[in-house]
Amino acid sequence: MRNEILNFFGRIHAQYIHAWGELGTRVLIKELDCQPNEEILEIGFGTGTTLVRLFSKNKRTKFYGIDFAPLMYKKAKARLRFCMAGNSVKLSLMKDKKQIPFETNSLDKIFLESVLGIQEGNDLKDLLMEINRVLRPNGFLVMNETIWLETTSSEKINHINDFCKHNFGIIQSNAHYPYLKDWIDLLVSVNFQCESVIKLDEIKFDIKSEFRKPYKLLSLAFTAAGKIKTLLSRSVRKEEKDYYRKMKQIIPDKTPLMGGIIIKLRNEKNPF
Ligand SMILES: C[S@@+](CC[C@H](N)C(=O)[O-])C[C@H]1O[C@@H](n2cnc3c(N)ncnc32)[C@H](O)[C@@H]1O
Repeated sequence: MRNEILNFFGRIHAQYIHAWGELGTRVLIKELDCQPNEEILEIGFGTGTTLVRLFSKNKRTKFYGIDFAPLMYKKAKARLRFCMAGNSVKLSLMKDKKQIPFETNSLDKIFLESVLGIQEGNDLKDLLMEINRVLRPNGFLVMNETIWLETTSSEKINHINDFCKHNFGIIQSNAHYPYLKDWIDLLVSVNFQCESVIKLDEIKFDIKSEFRKPYKLLSLAFTAAGKIKTLLSRSVRKEEKDYYRKMKQIIPDKTPLMGGIIIKLRNEKNPF
């Protein structure tokens, strides 16, 4: 039976739904380098953990979030309210998946974590072009994505993606632009200039947590409330078990097939 995995993650209040979890988010936040008065958008906020984290340290920055999944919107709104950030961070549920509900040239920075990679085929390029539209000239895009290693063949990529789409409702990572060099070529073709590329599995240093204590505790309590629900519900437990069993079936050994990557880009479009 198909298990819509993103709905499942929403139901259990999962945090950091991306490879390299919290470490990836710490690196992304460092690259994002939030400044007072900047307007920053997260696309695909999941249950809202990163937005609470950013708000806890950057009270003079204006944060926005958009997502197209009604359950994620509901859960992220609840997390933000619970963490006393509900009046400060503005969340919206997208009506049209193809359109970012912001004016052209209106945002200083945009970030995404495990959102671009799960776009299928040329939807990835379309979303990047939309991002380019709403970002100001010289604005920044920062992404944390899991992409295929060059040692992973296209047959394997298609096989895993088909399996994941069929069983979990989403692909693992885009197959039209599978490898890092394809991503860079694609990004340059839609007017982004690459500022830095960080491979998460090569990180040797620790990055200080910038999550302010009271907010961190509240956010953890919200995550725990979802986890408790999992423990109490037999159907949720079964769903979780099925997911890990099927993942082991499709990726059985420890051979690395994918890598986590943080890319920071400058929007090079013409200001006129
Ligand atoms: C893998 S989850 C990651 C959630 C969150 N960024 C995190 O890392 O915890 C992907 C999220 O992106 C949302 N999403 C996927 N494609 C999207 C799109 N084209 N526009 C807006 N949201 C999208 C999903 O609903 C989901 O909340």
